[in-house]
Amino acid sequence: MKAIVCTKYGSPDVLQLREVEKPIPKDNEVLIRVRATAVTASDCIIRKFKIPVRRWFPKGLFMELMMGFVIGFGKPRNPILGLVLSGGIESVGKDATRFKKGDQVYGFTGYSFGAYAEYTCLSEKDSPRGCLAIKPTTISHEEAAALSYAGILATHFVKKGNIQSGQRVLIYGASGAIGTTAVQLAKYYGTEVTGVCSTTNLELVKSLGADKVIDYTQEESIHELELYDFVLDTVGEFKSSRLKEHSRKALRKNGKYASVDDEDPKLRSEYLVLLNELIEAGHVKAVIDRQYPLEQIVEAHRYVDRGHKKGNVVITVK
Ligand SMILES: NC(=O)c1ccc[n+]([C@@H]2O[C@H](COP(=O)([O-])OP(=O)(O)OC[C@H]3O[C@@H](n4cnc5c(N)ncnc54)[C@H](OP(=O)(O)O)[C@@H]3O)[C@@H](O)[C@H]2O)c1
Repeated sequence: MKAIVCTKYGSPDVLQLREVEKPIPKDNEVLIRVRATAVTASDCIIRKFKIPVRRWFPKGLFMELMMGFVIGFGKPRNPILGLVLSGGIESVGKDATRFKKGDQVYGFTGYSFGAYAEYTCLSEKDSPRGCLAIKPTTISHEEAAALSYAGILATHFVKKGNIQSGQRVLIYGASGAIGTTAVQLAKYYGTEVTGVCSTTNLELVKSLGADKVIDYTQEESIHELELYDFVLDTVGEFKSSRLKEHSRKALRKNGKYASVDDEDPKLRSEYLVLLNELIEAGHVKAVIDRQYPLEQIVEAHRYVDRGHKKGNVVITVK
Protein backbone atom coordinates (compact mmCIF):
# COMPACT_ATOMS: atom_id res chain seq x y z
CA MET A 1 0.00 0.00 0.00
CA LYS A 2 0.99 3.65 -0.38
CA ALA A 3 2.08 5.45 2.79
CA ILE A 4 3.99 8.53 3.85
CA VAL A 5 6.98 7.49 5.94
CA CYS A 6 8.71 9.88 8.36
CA THR A 7 12.39 8.94 8.09
CA LYS A 8 13.56 11.16 10.99
CA TYR A 9 12.38 14.26 12.86
CA GLY A 10 12.87 17.50 10.95
CA SER A 11 11.62 19.67 8.09
CA PRO A 12 8.69 18.57 5.86
CA ASP A 13 11.21 16.86 3.51
CA VAL A 14 11.63 14.01 6.02
CA LEU A 15 8.22 12.78 4.79
CA GLN A 16 8.54 10.33 1.88
CA LEU A 17 5.98 8.48 -0.20
CA ARG A 18 6.77 4.71 -0.07
CA GLU A 19 5.23 1.31 -0.80
CA VAL A 20 4.87 -0.54 2.51
CA GLU A 21 3.13 -3.70 3.66
CA LYS A 22 -0.60 -3.50 4.27
CA PRO A 23 -1.22 -3.96 8.03
CA ILE A 24 -3.18 -6.90 9.45
CA PRO A 25 -5.63 -6.17 12.31
CA LYS A 26 -4.99 -7.79 15.70
CA ASP A 27 -7.92 -9.62 17.34
CA ASN A 28 -9.36 -6.43 18.94
CA GLU A 29 -8.60 -4.15 15.98
CA VAL A 30 -10.27 -3.03 12.78
CA LEU A 31 -8.56 -2.45 9.44
CA ILE A 32 -9.58 0.89 7.93
CA ARG A 33 -9.29 1.95 4.29
CA VAL A 34 -8.34 5.59 4.89
CA ARG A 35 -10.11 8.06 2.56
CA ALA A 36 -9.00 11.31 4.22
CA THR A 37 -6.66 12.55 6.91
CA ALA A 38 -5.50 16.03 7.94
CA VAL A 39 -2.27 17.88 8.58
CA THR A 40 -2.83 19.43 11.99
CA ALA A 41 -0.65 21.73 14.06
CA SER A 42 0.07 18.66 16.18
CA ASP A 43 1.34 16.66 13.18
CA CYS A 44 3.92 19.39 12.57
CA ILE A 45 4.88 19.50 16.25
CA ILE A 46 5.48 15.71 16.18
CA ARG A 47 7.38 15.84 12.86
CA LYS A 48 9.65 18.55 14.28
CA PHE A 49 9.86 16.82 17.72
CA LYS A 50 9.05 20.11 19.41
CA ILE A 51 6.30 20.07 21.95
CA PRO A 52 4.76 23.08 23.62
CA VAL A 53 5.81 23.53 27.23
CA ARG A 54 2.93 23.15 29.65
CA ARG A 55 2.40 26.13 31.92
CA TRP A 56 2.77 23.88 34.97
CA PHE A 57 5.46 21.51 33.68
CA PRO A 58 9.28 21.30 34.05
CA LYS A 59 10.88 22.52 30.85
CA GLY A 60 13.67 21.57 28.46
CA LEU A 61 15.43 18.22 28.39
CA PHE A 62 12.86 16.56 30.65
CA MET A 63 10.08 17.32 28.14
CA GLU A 64 12.17 15.90 25.29
CA LEU A 65 12.87 12.74 27.27
CA MET A 66 9.16 12.30 27.98
CA MET A 67 8.28 12.84 24.34
CA GLY A 68 11.03 10.47 23.19
CA PHE A 69 9.73 7.71 25.47
CA VAL A 70 6.20 8.16 24.17
CA ILE A 71 6.78 8.53 20.41
CA GLY A 72 10.40 7.44 19.83
CA PHE A 73 13.93 8.87 19.93
CA GLY A 74 15.56 10.13 16.69
CA LYS A 75 12.56 9.10 14.62
CA PRO A 76 8.98 8.14 15.39
CA ARG A 77 8.50 4.53 16.54
CA ASN A 78 5.63 4.27 14.06
CA PRO A 79 7.17 5.95 10.99
CA ILE A 80 3.73 6.50 9.46
CA LEU A 81 2.39 9.68 11.09
CA GLY A 82 -1.20 10.95 10.91
CA LEU A 83 -3.46 11.64 13.87
CA VAL A 84 -6.92 11.68 12.32
CA LEU A 85 -8.78 9.76 9.68
CA SER A 86 -12.04 9.08 7.97
CA GLY A 87 -12.66 5.97 5.90
CA GLY A 88 -14.34 2.58 5.61
CA ILE A 89 -13.92 -0.58 7.67
CA GLU A 90 -12.19 -3.14 5.45
CA SER A 91 -12.08 -6.05 7.92
CA VAL A 92 -12.31 -6.72 11.65
CA GLY A 93 -10.24 -8.82 14.09
CA LYS A 94 -11.88 -11.92 15.58
CA ASP A 95 -12.75 -10.21 18.92
CA ALA A 96 -13.90 -6.90 17.42
CA THR A 97 -17.67 -6.49 17.56
CA ARG A 98 -18.38 -2.73 17.52
CA PHE A 99 -17.93 -2.24 13.76
CA LYS A 100 -18.45 -4.36 10.67
CA LYS A 101 -17.00 -4.40 7.17
CA GLY A 102 -18.36 -1.49 5.15
CA ASP A 103 -19.05 0.85 8.10
CA GLN A 104 -17.88 4.40 7.40
CA VAL A 105 -15.97 5.68 10.43
CA TYR A 106 -13.94 8.65 11.57
CA GLY A 107 -11.65 9.21 14.49
CA PHE A 108 -8.37 10.00 16.13
CA THR A 109 -5.38 7.65 16.03
CA GLY A 110 -3.67 9.24 19.06
CA TYR A 111 -0.27 7.73 19.91
CA SER A 112 -0.82 4.98 17.31
CA PHE A 113 -0.45 7.50 14.44
CA GLY A 114 -0.67 5.72 11.05
CA ALA A 115 -3.29 7.76 9.17
CA TYR A 116 -0.95 8.94 6.36
CA ALA A 117 -1.56 5.68 4.49
CA GLU A 118 -4.10 3.81 2.40
CA TYR A 119 -4.78 1.42 5.30
CA THR A 120 -4.33 1.50 9.05
CA CYS A 121 -5.38 -0.62 12.04
CA LEU A 122 -6.93 0.76 15.24
CA SER A 123 -8.36 -0.83 18.35
CA GLU A 124 -12.13 -0.46 18.37
CA LYS A 125 -11.97 0.50 22.08
CA ASP A 126 -11.14 4.04 23.21
CA SER A 127 -7.64 4.60 24.58
CA PRO A 128 -4.79 7.12 24.23
CA ARG A 129 -4.02 5.07 21.10
CA GLY A 130 -7.20 6.17 19.41
CA CYS A 131 -10.98 6.35 19.26
CA LEU A 132 -13.48 5.75 16.47
CA ALA A 133 -17.15 6.40 15.74
CA ILE A 134 -19.53 6.04 12.82
CA LYS A 135 -19.13 9.01 10.48
CA PRO A 136 -22.20 11.22 9.90
CA THR A 137 -23.59 10.54 6.40
CA THR A 138 -24.12 14.25 5.78
CA ILE A 139 -20.41 15.15 5.56
CA SER A 140 -17.51 14.12 3.32
CA HIS A 141 -14.51 12.09 4.50
CA GLU A 142 -12.42 15.28 4.32
CA GLU A 143 -14.85 17.17 6.58
CA ALA A 144 -14.98 14.20 8.96
CA ALA A 145 -11.17 13.98 9.21
CA ALA A 146 -11.06 17.70 10.02
CA LEU A 147 -13.80 17.46 12.63
CA SER A 148 -12.36 14.44 14.41
CA TYR A 149 -9.32 16.53 15.43
CA ALA A 150 -10.97 19.92 15.86
CA GLY A 151 -14.10 18.38 17.37
CA ILE A 152 -12.46 16.17 20.00
CA LEU A 153 -10.08 18.90 21.15
CA ALA A 154 -12.71 21.65 21.14
CA THR A 155 -15.27 19.45 22.94
CA HIS A 156 -12.76 18.45 25.61
CA PHE A 157 -11.56 21.99 26.33
CA VAL A 158 -14.95 23.72 26.02
CA LYS A 159 -16.27 21.21 28.61
CA LYS A 160 -13.51 22.41 31.00
CA GLY A 161 -15.28 25.77 31.15
CA ASN A 162 -18.55 24.17 32.31
CA ILE A 163 -20.25 27.00 30.42
CA GLN A 164 -23.90 27.86 30.90
CA SER A 165 -26.36 29.61 28.64
CA GLY A 166 -26.10 33.39 28.95
CA GLN A 167 -22.46 33.41 30.09
CA ARG A 168 -19.73 35.31 28.30
CA VAL A 169 -16.94 33.33 26.58
CA LEU A 170 -13.72 34.45 24.87
CA ILE A 171 -12.16 32.11 22.30
CA TYR A 172 -8.56 33.17 21.68
CA GLY A 173 -7.33 31.98 18.26
CA ALA A 174 -10.83 31.62 16.85
CA SER A 175 -9.67 31.03 13.24
CA GLY A 176 -7.62 27.85 13.80
CA ALA A 177 -8.82 24.25 13.67
CA ILE A 178 -9.75 24.04 17.35
CA GLY A 179 -10.85 27.69 17.48
CA THR A 180 -13.37 27.50 14.63
CA THR A 181 -15.04 24.50 16.27
CA ALA A 182 -14.87 25.97 19.79
CA VAL A 183 -16.71 29.11 18.61
CA GLN A 184 -19.52 26.96 17.18
CA LEU A 185 -19.75 24.81 20.32
CA ALA A 186 -19.81 27.82 22.65
CA LYS A 187 -22.64 29.32 20.55
CA TYR A 188 -24.49 26.00 20.66
CA TYR A 189 -24.33 26.13 24.49
CA GLY A 190 -26.06 29.52 24.38
CA THR A 191 -23.16 31.74 25.44
CA GLU A 192 -22.20 35.17 24.18
CA VAL A 193 -19.02 34.50 22.22
CA THR A 194 -16.14 36.83 21.45
CA GLY A 195 -13.61 35.44 18.98
CA VAL A 196 -10.03 36.70 18.78
CA CYS A 197 -8.24 36.48 15.43
CA SER A 198 -6.25 38.62 12.98
CA THR A 199 -7.74 41.15 10.55
CA THR A 200 -8.06 38.74 7.60
CA ASN A 201 -10.12 36.26 9.63
CA LEU A 202 -12.65 38.60 11.27
CA GLU A 203 -15.41 37.83 8.73
CA LEU A 204 -14.78 34.07 8.92
CA VAL A 205 -15.13 34.08 12.72
CA LYS A 206 -18.31 36.20 12.56
CA SER A 207 -19.75 33.78 9.98
CA LEU A 208 -19.32 30.96 12.53
CA GLY A 209 -21.65 32.77 14.92
CA ALA A 210 -19.31 34.87 17.10
CA ASP A 211 -21.22 37.80 18.59
CA LYS A 212 -18.09 39.95 18.75
CA VAL A 213 -14.63 39.74 17.24
CA ILE A 214 -11.36 41.29 18.42
CA ASP A 215 -8.32 41.72 16.20
CA TYR A 216 -5.23 40.69 18.18
CA THR A 217 -2.91 42.44 15.71
CA GLN A 218 -4.26 45.91 16.59
CA GLU A 219 -2.38 47.62 19.40
CA GLU A 220 -5.52 49.24 20.86
CA SER A 221 -7.60 46.05 20.85
CA ILE A 222 -6.91 45.22 24.52
CA HIS A 223 -9.43 47.94 25.38
CA GLU A 224 -12.16 45.86 23.70
CA LEU A 225 -11.73 43.06 26.24
CA GLU A 226 -14.60 42.61 28.71
CA LEU A 227 -14.77 40.22 31.67
CA TYR A 228 -15.55 36.61 30.79
CA ASP A 229 -16.86 33.50 32.52
CA PHE A 230 -14.51 31.40 30.40
CA VAL A 231 -11.43 32.25 28.35
CA LEU A 232 -10.12 29.45 26.12
CA ASP A 233 -6.75 29.77 24.43
CA THR A 234 -7.05 27.49 21.39
CA VAL A 235 -3.67 28.24 19.81
CA GLY A 236 -1.44 27.09 22.64
CA GLU A 237 1.85 28.12 24.13
CA PHE A 238 3.76 28.70 20.86
CA LYS A 239 1.56 31.65 19.84
CA SER A 240 0.94 34.75 21.88
CA SER A 241 0.23 38.46 21.71
CA ARG A 242 -0.28 41.41 24.04
CA LEU A 243 -4.00 40.75 23.86
CA LYS A 244 -3.55 37.12 24.92
CA GLU A 245 -1.55 38.16 27.98
CA HIS A 246 -4.32 40.59 28.97
CA SER A 247 -7.06 38.02 28.31
CA ARG A 248 -5.63 35.73 31.02
CA LYS A 249 -6.84 38.24 33.60
CA ALA A 250 -10.09 39.27 31.87
CA LEU A 251 -12.17 36.97 34.05
CA ARG A 252 -15.38 37.50 35.99
CA LYS A 253 -15.42 36.33 39.63
CA ASN A 254 -15.12 32.51 39.46
CA GLY A 255 -14.26 32.78 35.76
CA LYS A 256 -11.92 30.13 34.31
CA TYR A 257 -8.96 30.26 31.93
CA ALA A 258 -7.84 27.18 29.98
CA SER A 259 -5.27 26.53 27.27
CA VAL A 260 -5.26 23.66 24.77
CA ASP A 261 -1.73 22.98 25.96
CA ASP A 262 -2.77 22.42 29.59
CA GLU A 263 -3.26 18.67 29.16
CA ASP A 264 -3.81 15.88 26.63
CA PRO A 265 -7.50 15.43 25.92
CA LYS A 266 -9.04 12.02 26.60
CA LEU A 267 -9.78 10.36 23.26
CA ARG A 268 -13.42 9.51 23.78
CA SER A 269 -15.69 8.18 21.06
CA GLU A 270 -18.56 9.72 23.07
CA TYR A 271 -17.22 13.15 22.01
CA LEU A 272 -17.59 12.04 18.39
CA VAL A 273 -21.10 10.70 19.01
CA LEU A 274 -22.09 14.08 20.53
CA LEU A 275 -20.45 15.80 17.58
CA ASN A 276 -22.46 13.64 15.15
CA GLU A 277 -25.70 15.03 16.58
CA LEU A 278 -24.44 18.61 16.31
CA ILE A 279 -23.14 18.09 12.77
CA GLU A 280 -26.38 16.49 11.63
CA ALA A 281 -28.44 19.29 13.20
CA GLY A 282 -26.26 21.88 11.43
CA HIS A 283 -24.76 23.38 14.62
CA VAL A 284 -21.16 22.45 13.75
CA LYS A 285 -19.44 22.43 10.38
CA ALA A 286 -15.87 21.88 9.28
CA VAL A 287 -13.84 24.86 8.12
CA ILE A 288 -11.47 23.67 5.40
CA ASP A 289 -8.72 25.96 4.20
CA ARG A 290 -6.84 23.70 1.75
CA GLN A 291 -7.08 20.16 0.42
CA TYR A 292 -4.08 18.16 -0.91
CA PRO A 293 -3.66 14.62 -2.27
CA LEU A 294 -1.55 12.25 -0.13
CA GLU A 295 1.29 12.55 -2.65
CA GLN A 296 1.58 16.30 -1.87
CA ILE A 297 1.74 16.00 1.90
CA VAL A 298 5.13 17.74 2.05
CA GLU A 299 3.51 20.90 0.58
CA ALA A 300 0.66 20.56 3.09
CA HIS A 301 3.16 20.40 6.00
CA ARG A 302 5.03 23.43 4.64
CA TYR A 303 1.77 25.37 4.57
CA VAL A 304 0.69 24.33 8.09
CA ASP A 305 4.20 25.12 9.42
CA ARG A 306 3.54 28.79 8.61
CA GLY A 307 1.07 28.80 11.54
CA HIS A 308 -1.74 30.70 9.84
CA LYS A 309 -4.09 28.12 8.36
CA LYS A 310 -7.78 28.95 8.55
CA GLY A 311 -9.48 25.98 10.19
CA ASN A 312 -8.17 22.75 8.72
CA VAL A 313 -5.86 21.41 6.00
CA VAL A 314 -7.08 18.03 4.77
CA ILE A 315 -5.49 15.23 2.76
CA THR A 316 -7.40 13.05 0.32
CA VAL A 317 -6.25 9.42 0.11
CA LYS A 318 -7.34 7.98 -3.26
N1 LIG B 1 -3.07 19.26 24.44
C1 LIG B 1 -2.99 18.54 23.35
O1 LIG B 1 -2.93 17.31 23.38
C2 LIG B 1 -3.03 19.24 22.03
C3 LIG B 1 -3.40 18.53 20.90
C4 LIG B 1 -3.45 19.21 19.69
C5 LIG B 1 -3.12 20.54 19.64
N2 LIG B 1 -2.73 21.19 20.75
C6 LIG B 1 -2.33 22.61 20.69
O2 LIG B 1 -3.31 23.31 19.98
C7 LIG B 1 -2.67 24.26 19.16
C8 LIG B 1 -3.59 24.74 18.11
O3 LIG B 1 -3.92 23.73 17.20
P1 LIG B 1 -4.75 24.06 15.88
O4 LIG B 1 -4.49 22.92 14.95
O5 LIG B 1 -6.16 24.42 16.20
O6 LIG B 1 -4.00 25.37 15.40
P2 LIG B 1 -3.95 25.96 13.96
O7 LIG B 1 -5.20 25.63 13.22
O8 LIG B 1 -2.66 25.58 13.33
O9 LIG B 1 -3.88 27.49 14.28
C9 LIG B 1 -3.79 28.36 13.18
C10 LIG B 1 -4.48 29.61 13.56
O10 LIG B 1 -3.75 30.27 14.59
C11 LIG B 1 -3.95 31.65 14.42
N3 LIG B 1 -2.84 32.37 15.06
C12 LIG B 1 -1.54 32.35 14.72
N4 LIG B 1 -0.83 33.12 15.57
C13 LIG B 1 -1.72 33.63 16.45
C14 LIG B 1 -1.61 34.48 17.58
N5 LIG B 1 -0.44 34.98 17.99
N6 LIG B 1 -2.73 34.78 18.25
C15 LIG B 1 -3.94 34.30 17.86
N7 LIG B 1 -4.12 33.48 16.82
C16 LIG B 1 -3.01 33.15 16.13
C17 LIG B 1 -3.94 31.85 12.93
O11 LIG B 1 -4.73 32.97 12.64
P3 LIG B 1 -4.07 34.27 11.96
O12 LIG B 1 -3.53 33.81 10.64
O13 LIG B 1 -5.22 35.17 11.85
O14 LIG B 1 -3.00 34.72 12.89
C18 LIG B 1 -4.56 30.55 12.40
O15 LIG B 1 -5.90 30.70 12.02
C19 LIG B 1 -1.40 23.53 18.72
O16 LIG B 1 -0.41 24.44 18.27
C20 LIG B 1 -0.99 22.81 19.98
O17 LIG B 1 -0.17 23.69 20.75
C21 LIG B 1 -2.69 20.57 21.95
